[in-house]
Amino acid sequence: MSELKNYHMSAEDFRRYGKEMIDWIADYYERIEQYPVLSRVKPGEIKAALAAAAPVAGEDFGEIIKGLEDTIMPGVTHWQSPRFHAYFPANASGPAILGDLLSAGLGIQGMLWSTSPACTELETQVLDWLIDPLGLPEKFRSTNRGGGVLQDSASSAVLCALLAARERDSGLQTNKTGGNGRQVAYCSTQTHSSLEKAMGIAGLGRDNLRQIEVDENFALDVGKLRERIDLDKAAGLRPVFVCATLGTTSSNAMDPVAAIGKICAEENLWFHIDGAMSGTAAICPEYHYLHDGVEYADSYCFNPHKWMFTNFDCSCFWVADRSALINALSILPEYLLNEATESGAVFDYRDWQVPLGRRFRALKLWFVLRYYGVEGLQYHIRRHIELTKLLIDRIEADENFDLVAPAPLNLICFRHRGNDDLNKKIMDELNESGEIFLTHTKLNDRFVIRFCVGQSRTEEEHIKQAWRLITATAARLRGEVTLDE
Ligand SMILES: Cc1ncc(COP(=O)(O)O)c(C=O)c1O
Repeated sequence: MSELKNYHMSAEDFRRYGKEMIDWIADYYERIEQYPVLSRVKPGEIKAALAAAAPVAGEDFGEIIKGLEDTIMPGVTHWQSPRFHAYFPANASGPAILGDLLSAGLGIQGMLWSTSPACTELETQVLDWLIDPLGLPEKFRSTNRGGGVLQDSASSAVLCALLAARERDSGLQTNKTGGNGRQVAYCSTQTHSSLEKAMGIAGLGRDNLRQIEVDENFALDVGKLRERIDLDKAAGLRPVFVCATLGTTSSNAMDPVAAIGKICAEENLWFHIDGAMSGTAAICPEYHYLHDGVEYADSYCFNPHKWMFTNFDCSCFWVADRSALINALSILPEYLLNEATESGAVFDYRDWQVPLGRRFRALKLWFVLRYYGVEGLQYHIRRHIELTKLLIDRIEADENFDLVAPAPLNLICFRHRGNDDLNKKIMDELNESGEIFLTHTKLNDRFVIRFCVGQSRTEEEHIKQAWRLITATAARLRGEVTLDE
């Protein structure tokens, strides 16, 4: 027997350092605006500053905490800064962070109902809770034929939807013998790249994804979808899946869900809706209209980890017919057999996702829903949309700038009058200033600056200050860069 030792952290130290860590995080939020929003490190800089090899002897935890400021923080881009307006947000909140901490503390692995019943049942219930406030159809409810599950990401959700569609179409044959290369899927040119990736992973092949043209508002053109489905059928292919987006990544365009849904119903195609960020807005009754037509959907996804104050990762995914999903993903080796599974009375969420293991994600969402209440969430979502309008008004009133896409919620796509080079320079300089972080896209082949308002702590003063910075930077650069198209 080896000499008896104990390297574990004692309960007493855990308590002490745990409190210190929470203090550290609370202080971080208080001083977050002192950091440049976008990290300024060069590639390799953080790695080079770390020890070359793992420590042989353990270190004092207090010292590890102290080292964070110098080693890690220079390489952090501050997604929780109220001046973060890039991409789509990945916002967070106190209750969500504490929920994640509790999940880590309990340390359970909820692959089966029996491996922690609370992990499964809380998740089922919280996803049922969201159906009414979001105006989602009753068929998604676990007490009907559907049900909801938390995925790590919208990318996983669309992959699961595609796998279920593939198997529903092939009568579970593709799972056994592989695909025949004839199943095709449809989305728009603006659909998130995760679907194209999923086509490859699911073995349908990226070439079998039809990226349908969009209209002048960057929403899928339903007439073109119809034409393409007919063409594919005439060529002997099998249309199986359509994805509509509520809030495309580039410009927050809304695909015509009901019209697409009708085609899917006629053609018996799996209809998935990706509401990654913008689905959250439907929690306000005045935005329920976003979900008009969702009754046609076979599956639907939105990410509380984008705009609903629930830190990454947390993606809600509902299906109308859970057996289609479970049939596609279930596999039951001997070592997982247990009475509850065999009774058929429980959900085993491992059958609703790609990996086997899963963590207790529902805790943070439950905490958020209980702490804010639907009312609190509605307030903050409305506030973000109001703040967006504030900026829209300023852009519209300024002859140097143009809005280049409809801005129905919290994303603005705009350009300075002139060429792409000037617009890119404006954005780069703003980002280098550390005062703000914006990203771009291309719409109609032109460089467009995106400004998203979704960070939990963004307030009116941040928006006004952002506009002052944007106009001042543009004015300075106008002198230096030619404006010609
Ligand atoms: C519309 C849309 N769908 C899907 C995704 C992928 O999200 P996730 O990181 O959850 O996979 C994004 C990411 O921004 C998105 O904007």
